[in-house]
Order: sequence, then C-alpha cells, then structure tokens
Amino acid sequence: MQKVGIIGSASVGQTLAEGFKKHGYDVRIGSRTPAKLAEFSSKSGISAGTFADVAAWAEAVVLAVHGVAAEEALRQAGDQNLRGKVVIDATNPIADAPPIDGVLQFFTGPNESLMERLQAAHPEARFVKAFSCVGAARMVNPQFSGGKPTMFYCGNDAGAKAFVEDVLDKFGWERADMGSAAAARAIEPLAQLWCIPGFRQNSWTHALSLLWS
Ligand SMILES: NC(=O)c1ccc[n+]([C@@H]2O[C@H](COP(=O)([O-])OP(=O)(O)OC[C@H]3O[C@@H](n4cnc5c(N)ncnc54)[C@H](OP(=O)(O)O)[C@@H]3O)[C@@H](O)[C@H]2O)c1
Repeated sequence: MQKVGIIGSASVGQTLAEGFKKHGYDVRIGSRTPAKLAEFSSKSGISAGTFADVAAWAEAVVLAVHGVAAEEALRQAGDQNLRGKVVIDATNPIADAPPIDGVLQFFTGPNESLMERLQAAHPEARFVKAFSCVGAARMVNPQFSGGKPTMFYCGNDAGAKAFVEDVLDKFGWERADMGSAAAARAIEPLAQLWCIPGFRQNSWTHALSLLWS
C-alpha cells in the first residue's frame, strides 16, 4: 500500500503527511476546505482534497481530526471509501473542557474508547490506533539521547497492524503491540499522561518508553 490519504489538515495531519512523503509514499491530505492547504501543498508538494476525495483515492488512511469530530469526519469521508482499508487512528477523545491540574478531560469513559466507536461505525475498515500518545513534533523519526521511544498500537486486523508496523519501523519507533481494538481504552489515556508535563511545566519534548527486563 503506497497511496496514503491523510484525513486532517492541522499539525498531526501535516506532520504525518510529510513523514509518509519523506519515506516514499504517495500522499494526499484532506480538509473540509482544501483551499486552506494551498500554501502547505505548494511547499510540500502534497495535494489536497476533501475528506471523501482523499479517502476514495487512498489505499490506507490516517485519521488526524479533532476527537469530538472524528465520527463526523469519517461520515464525510464516506464508509464506502473506507471499506477494507487500513485506518491509522491518531485521534484522542479530548472533551471541549479545560484540563484539570494538567489532566485533559475525555468524553469517553474508562471501559470504552473512541477507536472502538469508530470501528463499530465502520466495521469493514481496519482500524489501528497509533501516533496518539506523542506530540506531533516528535511523530516522525524523533531523536532522543536515550534511544528510540515506544509507540503503543492496537487493532483487530493482523494485516493492518503489519502495515503499521512497517510504518513505525520507518518512522523510527520501538513498537509495542497492545492487542485488539479494546486496548485503545488504555492507549488513548496515554495522551492524557503525555500532556501533563506540557500543561504543568510547559515541557512538550518528551516521549514514552516501555522497558523490558
Ligand atoms: N497535536 C498533537 O500534537 C497531537 C498528538 C497526538 C494526537 N493528537 C490527536 O490528533 C488529532 C488531530 O490533532 P491536531 O492537533 O492535528 O488537530 P485538531 O485541531 O485536533 O483537528 C483538526 C482537524 O479536525 C477537523 N475538524 C474539526 N472540526 C470538524 C468537524 N466538525 N467535522 C469534521 N472535521 C472537523 C479539521 O477539519 P478541517 O481540515 O476541515 O479544518 C482538521 O482537519 C486530535 O484528535 C488530537 O487529539 C494530536
């Protein structure tokens, strides 16, 4: 799968679009108003379209939209354009409410996840949660003196995860497969944890690492 369509036009969408391009993929990026990406397209050489244009063209999709709008963005992308495709889900279920003592508020509860909702709404798409637990600036080939950081990922489809594993290797991550889509209940809150030093100390340059003995 070489044609990667990014659904989402902000920092995560633009960063991952450039990352996939850097690693040799054919990339397009989507927005409800593609014209606003004219400057990004002219600088990056990555063309823009609507969510539906990009999803229809792509062989694999990255979802990088505002969490509260994720279901709506995929509705606009079109279920028929997602069937059978890998959907790398970088979103987090962040509520429209301020953090409490640096802890982001979620609109999901502890025994559910946004990705499971999205998977249930699009049963023939092959969702893999990834890139959700680090800041956009460190998603592509991050450099840390302590070595490679860990990307936690999960999903129900082994073939979809194999595609994402190859991407994570290229993008410079240690991989930690947490199992089925239900593990998104544990992976999505890692974004809350990752953001705490940011909100409390304005420190955003870290990543998570899992050590094995
Ligand atoms: N920022 C980070 O460092 C970071 C790191 C890890 C994970 N994440 C997660 O990645 C996702 C993207 O984050 P971000 O900071 O790049 O951008 P964002 O501001 O959370 O989302 C921007 C995107 O959401 C779309 N959107 C907003 N409202 C919409 C609606 N009502 N219907 C359809 N689409 C809508 C926008 O569409 P238009 O293009 O049409 O404006 C845009 O593409 C979020 O879920 C976030 O939690 C972010």
